[in-house]
This record gives sequence, structure tokens and C-alpha cells, in this order.
Amino acid sequence: MSDRSAPTEPRYPVRALHEDDWAGFVATDSHAFGITVPDAVAEAEREVHEPGRGLGAFEGSTPVAIATAFSFELTVPGGALPAAGVSWVGVLPTHRRRGLLGALMTRQLQDVHDAGREPLAALWASEPPIYGRFGYGLASRSYALTVPRSAQAITEDAPADPALRLRLVSPEDWRLMQPVYDVAARERPGMLARDERWWRRLVRDTPELREGRSGLRAVVAEDEERVRGYALYATKPDWAPGSQGGTVFVRETMSADAPARAALYRYLFDLDLMGSTTLSNTPVDDPLLFWLRNTRAASPRLSDALYLRLVDVRTALRRRTYATPLDVVLDVRDDLCPWNHARWRLIADDGTEDGAVRCERTDGPPDLELGVRELGAAYLGGTALADLGLAGLVRELTPGALRTASAAFLHTPAPWCPTAF
Ligand SMILES: CC(C)(COP(=O)(O)OP(=O)(O)OC[C@H]1O[C@@H](n2cnc3c(N)ncnc32)[C@H](O)[C@@H]1OP(=O)(O)O)[C@@H](O)C(=O)NCCC(=O)NCCS
Repeated sequence: MSDRSAPTEPRYPVRALHEDDWAGFVATDSHAFGITVPDAVAEAEREVHEPGRGLGAFEGSTPVAIATAFSFELTVPGGALPAAGVSWVGVLPTHRRRGLLGALMTRQLQDVHDAGREPLAALWASEPPIYGRFGYGLASRSYALTVPRSAQAITEDAPADPALRLRLVSPEDWRLMQPVYDVAARERPGMLARDERWWRRLVRDTPELREGRSGLRAVVAEDEERVRGYALYATKPDWAPGSQGGTVFVRETMSADAPARAALYRYLFDLDLMGSTTLSNTPVDDPLLFWLRNTRAASPRLSDALYLRLVDVRTALRRRTYATPLDVVLDVRDDLCPWNHARWRLIADDGTEDGAVRCERTDGPPDLELGVRELGAAYLGGTALADLGLAGLVRELTPGALRTASAAFLHTPAPWCPTAF
């Protein structure tokens, strides 16, 4: 990453952040998000920060706008790819709406492209309208649910395995849970390979952030041989007169199979003294949606989740698999990354011996016209290109091409990201 000035805002030169910019970086983030990051949290967050990946637009020695990226391995259909996890994006309230976010996003994409390692960039957006203009498409959604307490919250049809038992463990014993996560992460697009630093971040339990909740707890579902599922949760009692009871807050639940998952849900939905259980980030295809006796009572709220950007269209398209054979010319618009702005012929599963996916520039007539944002939305297999077509965001130039491409891009299980970053 070289230190060069942002083309759009020479008044606020953009440069890579150094170690001694850390305090200014945290201060800018606190102002931008209207919070005070507790010292303990800032110090702990530093563990996952990667020196050299942070960017700042500076006024003197003050970073007035910031952004960083984490080096992730992101599961995509048929494999995993390096991805820049964009985070800690903020602009001082005194310096908003003068192009600083735009300058940082442009510079960051250029840096990622120049480094040549990460064909994808991904992020969680504090507000959905911010990132589409930079080519990030909504690639995964999730449900938030609040399940009223009941021993019968899920139907008796949900599979059970008498060999399973539940055991309370310390969240610090995350290594017990890691194999369950690793298997799930290989199968589901949108999940991130999780190393020790990210596990420690997941089970971090900062007293200043508990807001009356208990400490973080962990329960595993296991048989004689292995752990098959886990849940991380905290409880908040409510003794107020007339209260229906406290709340169980689930931080993460993961399972290797349906019986283990059902056992964990039965446990989480029927804890003594609790009135309801809140799951804030549930996959859109979670079996729970079929098991709940009364889905409506859990008030499912659909939310945007991971946004994805193809930094290098050719590499990204070549390095995922497709559900059905495909030979299509995509005319991709990308105003920010000129190296992507081209017609690409994408061929998958054409019966050749190597079976490899090919993606090359072409001058041939396009079958579909779309923006890089729409490609990002469809890439993980959770947003149908055909639906984007119905919305007028993908244009079909060859009859039938949209339906074929749409089927090829879709993926089961649906993309989901349990890690907010
Ligand atoms: C969101 C934020 C980073 C925008 O920074 P900024 O420097 O004001 O943005 P820019 O001036 O570069 O704006 C670029 C474009 O995005 C638009 N935009 C910026 N913030 C937006 C928002 N919150 N909602 C919708 N559009 C927004 C601008 O209107 C501008 O559009 P234009 O090019 O058509 O004029 C800044 O307001 C901020 O720090 N907010 C609080 C923290 C936050 O939400 N960070 C994002 C974390 S995911």
C-alpha cells in the first residue's frame, strides 16, 4: 500500500495508517458512530486489526476520515476466496458530505486490486444506502426472531437424537466448538474462516457492554464421540411487576446436523425465568423456520446482511462453481474499477475434460447487461439474477439467458454470515 494523495480531496491527503495513529483512529470512529468505544474494547479490537490495512484522510495529524480492511477467507459456492473485509468506516461529523468516504472507498478498491490477492471485498453496512454507489451489492439477508418462551416452541416433528446431551462449558473453551463451525463454514457461502483471533473476539465478554445481561454462557450438544453443536448466549432477568420474564440473547448457534440444532433450540426456548429468546442473525433457510409451531409469534424481521463487491470480476467469476451449465456473455458496468468494465464470457461445466470454469474478455454480443453491484448481489447465490431482472436492474439481450444464468448462480444453502465485523 503506497502513500499517495487522494485524487478527489487533495486538501485531506489519504495515507496508510501507522501504529501511532491508533488513538486518532479510535477517536474518529467514536465521533462518527456517536459512541464512546470503551478502552477495553478498543484494546481488544486491536488484536484483529492488521497494520498497514487502515487508511485515513488527514487534516494535519488528525484522521478526519478512516477505513480499514481485514484479510478474510470467504466461502463462495464451491470453495473459498480471499476477501477484504471492509470495516471501521467513518468520517468526522465536522467533515461529512465533502467526498471523503468516496475518496477512501476508491483508494481502498485500487489498493486491493493492486495487491492482487483479494478478488472480493465484503462489508456490513451501518445504513443500507451507503455502499451501492461503490459497487457493493446485497449478497445475503438474515432474520431476527424473538421466540416466546415455551417447552413446545418447536414442533415434535423436529428431529431428536437420544444420544445427544447438553453440557454447559466456558465460552473460553471455544476450541470445542471450532470443528462444528469449520464444517459449517465450508458449506455455506458468506461464512468466514475463523482463526484464533476471531474466536477470541466472538467470545469476548466485556462487562461495560453487558447492559444488565449475565456473562456470556456456552452450551454444547454432544454425543459419546464429538461435539455436534453449540450456542453462545446471555440472559437478562426481568423481575418487574407484570413482566413476562427475562430475555435470552443468543450470540451464535451452530450445528453439524438437524437433531443437534433442534436440541439447542429446545434448550434456548425454555430456560426458567425467561420470557423470550432473541436470535438476531438467523440464516434465511434455517430449519427453525420450519420447526417453529407459530412462526408469526416470533415476529421474523428480514434484514440486509453481508454486502459483496467483485474487486476483480474475472478471478471472482472463475473461482466459484455454478449449479448448472453456463455459457453467457455479461456486459458489466463498473464506473469505479475500469479493469472490470468490459464484456466477459463465462463458461461453466461445458463438458470439457478439466471441467474448469472459464471467464475471458470478449467482443462478442452480450447476453446480459448489468452493473458490478448486481453481480455482487448475485455472486454468493442468495439473490436471483432473474429477480434483479424483474426489478429492471439486469437487462436481458438474448431471450432465455437470464433464466439460465439465474439458475446457475443460485446456491443452497443460502449465503449467511454469522460474523459482524
Ligand atoms: C456514512 C459516512 C461514512 C459518509 O461519509 P461522507 O464523507 O459524508 O460521504 P461522501 O461525502 O463521500 O458521500 C459520498 C456519497 O454518498 C452519499 N452518502 C453518504 N452518506 C450517506 C448515507 N448515510 N446515506 C445515504 N447516502 C450517503 C453522499 O450523499 C454522496 O452522494 P453523492 O456522491 O451523490 O453526492 C459518514 O456520514 C459517517 O461516518 N457516518 C457515521 C458512521 C457510519 O455510518 N459509517 C459507515 C459504517 S458501515
